[in-house]
Amino acid sequence: FLASLDLLEEEGFDPPAPNRTQDRLDDEIAPMPREFHNTPDTDPALAANREWARRILARVPESDLGTATIAEARIESEGALEEVVERVKTAGDAWGARSAEERAGFVRRAGYSLESNRDRLIEVMAAETGKTIDQADPEVSEAVDFARYYSLSALELDAVDGASFVPSSLTVVAPPWNFPVAIPAGGVLAALAAGSGVIIKPAPQARRSAAVMVEALWESGIPREVLALVDLDEDELGRRLMSDPRVDRLILTGSYDTAALFRSWRPDLPLLAETSGKNAVVVTPSADLDLAVSDIVKSAFGHAGQKCSAASLAILVGSVAESARFRRQLVDAVTSLRVGWPADATAQMGPVIEPPSGKLAEALTTLGPGERWLVEPRSLDESGRLWSPGVKEWVLPGTAFHLTEYFGPVLGLMRAETLEEALELQNTVQFGLTAGLQSLDAEEISAWLAGVEAGNVYVNRGITGAIVRRQPFGGWKRSSVGAGSKAGGPHYLAHLGSWVSDPGEP
Ligand code: ALA
Repeated sequence: FLASLDLLEEEGFDPPAPNRTQDRLDDEIAPMPREFHNTPDTDPALAANREWARRILARVPESDLGTATIAEARIESEGALEEVVERVKTAGDAWGARSAEERAGFVRRAGYSLESNRDRLIEVMAAETGKTIDQADPEVSEAVDFARYYSLSALELDAVDGASFVPSSLTVVAPPWNFPVAIPAGGVLAALAAGSGVIIKPAPQARRSAAVMVEALWESGIPREVLALVDLDEDELGRRLMSDPRVDRLILTGSYDTAALFRSWRPDLPLLAETSGKNAVVVTPSADLDLAVSDIVKSAFGHAGQKCSAASLAILVGSVAESARFRRQLVDAVTSLRVGWPADATAQMGPVIEPPSGKLAEALTTLGPGERWLVEPRSLDESGRLWSPGVKEWVLPGTAFHLTEYFGPVLGLMRAETLEEALELQNTVQFGLTAGLQSLDAEEISAWLAGVEAGNVYVNRGITGAIVRRQPFGGWKRSSVGAGSKAGGPHYLAHLGSWVSDPGEP
């Protein structure tokens, strides 16, 4: 094993972080385990891991990872797009004819490759999208989890009595920029495991991150014919791709409006879309307020609030709204967050993806009726991208801040007299992605669970960072368009092909 580490170093790879070595040994002993377990994040408590992180972050300002691949993937003409669609569709048919066992092996090996490229993936995410290492490292773990989980799910497709799974030939994956590795990897690996050829069209803000992820998959043995990366502008060529009748399925993560637009282009295209959120955490007087503050701050300001799952509202019930202690702790926690560029290993909140404009700029710089700043956000440097986090109170029911998704570092506080009223405020929004309750009262918890309208509901836990298999991820209401199946959950692959009934006994 040590010899193989030397070899990796000779080939120019950094050795893996120390708490990874056990994983690699396990993989060598059991190349295709039948049991799923989640991949651990890199443990920053170990000095050697901090040194590993320091080396990655030192490369971030100069990083050009992914640049060459994305240049190759650039599509400028209809003819070039036509050629890719035809090639992947044909290769996808052959891929789908392989056994589930074989495909599962490929996807499983893709997971090893993502793991051994952990450093490069963190580097490119930090360089390209400003993701801090505390957010980027778990994102790689999630991508590896998807590979492990979907490789096992592929085997289950063959085990259904009375019906056979017919793979799609061609699936298009259109991921967002805010999870530039985990979400594209999840979509691509799910479709591959389910036997489909894949074209991935990355978000323009995160194209290099997608390229490094795809390189890792190719490196692991996934054939280039079966998985193509195309970089194209979202206007005419994007529309052509999304409306091409040869595309069998689309996996989209983006805004509700984008999903609606794609639907209007090709209404018959089967779609799995995870869309927008406007998520709230309810805090009742029975809550552990220390935990509530910590969970709310992580959920609202992790990755500068740029998560569909982020907490955008905290609804304070009864005496919590009057609690000077709660507000003091919240203000302390928010104002002591270290904001910085990701090359700084101590930064806890990084930049937003681009200088705020439109709705987000308004939310960061203006107050609605009756609102005042508890913590006023400030622009911290000339880039326009680095903002200190903001908290406003009291957001009134039915106002813009109550109902709009912002995708940035600003949290609104609302008050409610009772838990029922809080639930109503939470459910009034048209989205239903994540929701949180902070309460130590069993009756309150059951009442809330019975009434809350969201796909991922969390009690006494932050509302971001769903873990593959433990918290399959997907929304309700306008947070989901199409099949509504949850990523990282038991039925996801089943929605990526067709089912035909087996002929009965004569
Ligand atoms: N799956 C991501 C989360 O749970 C979006 O935060």
